[in-house]
Amino acid sequence: MLTEDEMKVLVTYATKYGATEGIAAKIGEMLDQAGLQADVLPVKQVGDLGPYQAVVLGSAVYIGSWRREASKFLKSNENALAERAVWLFSSGPTGKGDVHELLQGWRFPGRLQPIADRIQPRDITAFHGAADPDKMNGFERWILKNVNAPEGDFRDWDAIAAWATKIADELKGAA
Ligand SMILES: Cc1cc2nc3c(=O)[nH]c(=O)nc-3n(C[C@H](O)[C@H](O)[C@H](O)COP(=O)(O)O)c2cc1C
Repeated sequence: MLTEDEMKVLVTYATKYGATEGIAAKIGEMLDQAGLQADVLPVKQVGDLGPYQAVVLGSAVYIGSWRREASKFLKSNENALAERAVWLFSSGPTGKGDVHELLQGWRFPGRLQPIADRIQPRDITAFHGAADPDKMNGFERWILKNVNAPEGDFRDWDAIAAWATKIADELKGAA
């Protein structure tokens, strides 16, 4: 039986421009504050999942897909993830309003759903993202304009913190 402070959680993410990294950092901070040990790492830097009892995995969404490295991580670690408590999140829409309404219920790429069905995550959610026009190229700015997605940072820190607190509560309940 593990005590709370022996429980290691991996918070791992795929980002192009940093918005998702910020969301992962906030989740890690909340888990640490709750007395758990969280490592926050980009998916490309993750090796063995052995030390972790739980994994939170998130990716930025580009044209309906997760970043390639996040999809790859999910596929290649499917068995190890299926043995752990897993939470998934997408970092997506810009614009005001309820994130799930903005996404019309979408939370996660359908193409990856069969893998998620085998992993059985505790929850899959989506958060508002951020689009910084100074970082994006002309094509990306054009796409956002075409789908009427505003530029700016719309990350909802309260929603992110609340979700992380729920994860901590569930894990502490299991410790
Ligand atoms: C070219 C482009 C396409 C995007 N496509 C989607 C999309 O299909 N769905 C969505 O919710 N957000 C979409 N976004 C918004 C990004 O997912 C959002 O800005 C995200 O937070 C960026 O994360 P990152 O900074 O970690 O890369 C798109 C943004 C760009 C620039």
